[in-house]
Amino acid sequence: MNVLSRSCRLACAALMLFAATAKAEPEPAALVDQHHCMFCHTRDAPFLAPSFEQIAARYRNEPNARIMLEHKLRLGGKAHWGDMAMPLPADRGGPISAEDAHTLVQWVLSQ
Ligand code: HEC
Repeated sequence: MNVLSRSCRLACAALMLFAATAKAEPEPAALVDQHHCMFCHTRDAPFLAPSFEQIAARYRNEPNARIMLEHKLRLGGKAHWGDMAMPLPADRGGPISAEDAHTLVQWVLSQ
């Protein structure tokens, strides 16, 4: 009886953990698709652009980075990684609202 309830508790905890991580993903994914972020970026391998893991590692602990990145996503700015600046939103999927930029930057920095 004891063993049974313990293994049930473990299984339930694992299920809940899975549900929690699975739920965290889809929200920005629609935005990421809509704005073609993965056309140039990947999560973990630099390709046409730095990977989101590299970007997260560089900015995660910089208190003002979020504001700068949200601004840059919406309005552009100078290149920080090389010669090629990120194209403006109009050349990607269309304008990005302040809220969407916030969501996207939160997501990138959590990679
Ligand atoms: C057409 C290619 C392209 C697309 C599409 C693209 N990026 Fe980028 N991105 C780049 C390049 C190139 C850089 C490096 C620019 C630089 O040196 O600052 C970059 C840099 C970044 C940075 C770091 C900026 C900095 O100042 O360090 C973030 C954050 C970012 N991209 C997020 C996104 C998100 C979110 C999307 C989707 C909304 C997206 N990118 C779509 C090419 C792209």
